[in-house]
Order: sequence, then C-alpha cells, then structure tokens
Amino acid sequence: MKLTFYGHSCFLFETGTHRLVIDPFITGNPKAPLTADQVQCDFVLISHGHGDHFGDAVEIAKRNNATVIANYEIATYCASLGAKSHGMQIGGAHKFPFGKVKLTIAHHGSGLQMDRGFLYLGNPTGFLIQTGGRMVYHSGDTGLFMDMQLIGQMNKIDVALLPIGDNFTMGVDDAAKAVEFLQPRVVIPMHYKTWELIDADPQNFRSKVKALGVQAQILQPGESYEF
Ligand code: NI
Ligand code: MN
Repeated sequence: MKLTFYGHSCFLFETGTHRLVIDPFITGNPKAPLTADQVQCDFVLISHGHGDHFGDAVEIAKRNNATVIANYEIATYCASLGAKSHGMQIGGAHKFPFGKVKLTIAHHGSGLQMDRGFLYLGNPTGFLIQTGGRMVYHSGDTGLFMDMQLIGQMNKIDVALLPIGDNFTMGVDDAAKAVEFLQPRVVIPMHYKTWELIDADPQNFRSKVKALGVQAQILQPGESYEF
C-alpha cells in the first residue's frame, strides 16, 4: 500500500487494487507536485467544502469516471455538477470495492466560497479507511477532540494523517495530543507550510510524538510512504 503526498492535505492512496485521492486541492496549491489533469484515480474523497480541500475534485472525478465519497451535501452538489457520487454522514460506514470508509467528526467549517458568501456543504468530516487489513485515518481539518480517544480505542490505526499548521486546525501541541489519543503506528503531518499563516515545524512535531513512542513520517510533496 502506498500514500503519496500531493501537498497540503491531499494524498493519493494506492490500495493495491484501487487509487483514492483525498482532498484534491491541486490548482492553486503552491506545493502541488503535479497538475490536476495528471491525477489518476478511481475514487475522490472530500473531507469538507473549503476550497483547499474540495479543490479540483469535480473535474478529477469526471475525467477519471471516479466516484466522489463525501458527506451527503457535498456528494449531492458534486452529482449536480455531473460527477458520480456517494453520500454518507458522520458515524456511518460503507463498503466500497476497495474496502470500508467511515466518516468521523471534525471540528471545523464546511462552506464552499462562492462569488458572494459561502455555499453551505454540511458538516466537516474525517475518514477512517479500512482496506487490505490496514487502517488509515485522515482527520480532515479539525481541532483536537476527546473522541479521538474513542477512535483510537476502536480502531488499530496504521497511518494517521493529521493537520499541524495551527490557526485553522490543530497546531503541533494539539496534534501531538491527538497522536496520544489515536495511538497510530505512524503519523504523517499535513496542512502546514502551504502558506506563511500555517508555517508549523514538522521536526518539532516529530520529536514530540517520538516521546510518545510513535513514528512521524514527514513527506515532501511528491514523496510516498509504503506500508
Ligand atoms: Ni478547512
Ligand atoms: Mn484547510
């Protein structure tokens, strides 16, 4: 299995049988190692409606004939734009051809910026992705929450993808606390250094989680982690 970092919160997850792209913010992402028309996938997962996560989702889904997986409001909006989609809600899981996806809570917003104001697109989410005997958790954008302890208790997480950039999401200290709650085997930091406002230090995060006995894998955009 392979996770490739496309910058910000975007990852390509190759399960061995399918390719999933999560939060495909490529166009306008200063750290993106490729262009949106180069993304190849079977499924597109969108954690919430913000532009730096929704990104190129509809274009990528339509070009690849891929299915969007997201909360019901985002899925319905993508369907109205011509993409195949599968809507879910927080706490619900569904079995897809590659494995199982469960939507988790996230403390954040989910409006898509339009010309004037925002299009409300439901609640922000994270994803628990179970495939081939492995579990990956992409938290989406979120602040720290106590239920991460429950998520950690109920799931043996192999790889957790967590934001560390602060301001809009958890910063380094809260993300380290999240690692303590989640007890993943490996954590990959995301949502930092895309812009100056979220200029967190991943090495600082790595040393904090090392003290908890957890390995942080820092990926440069374009780099992969195999497990
Ligand atoms: Ni956001
Ligand atoms: Mn974001």
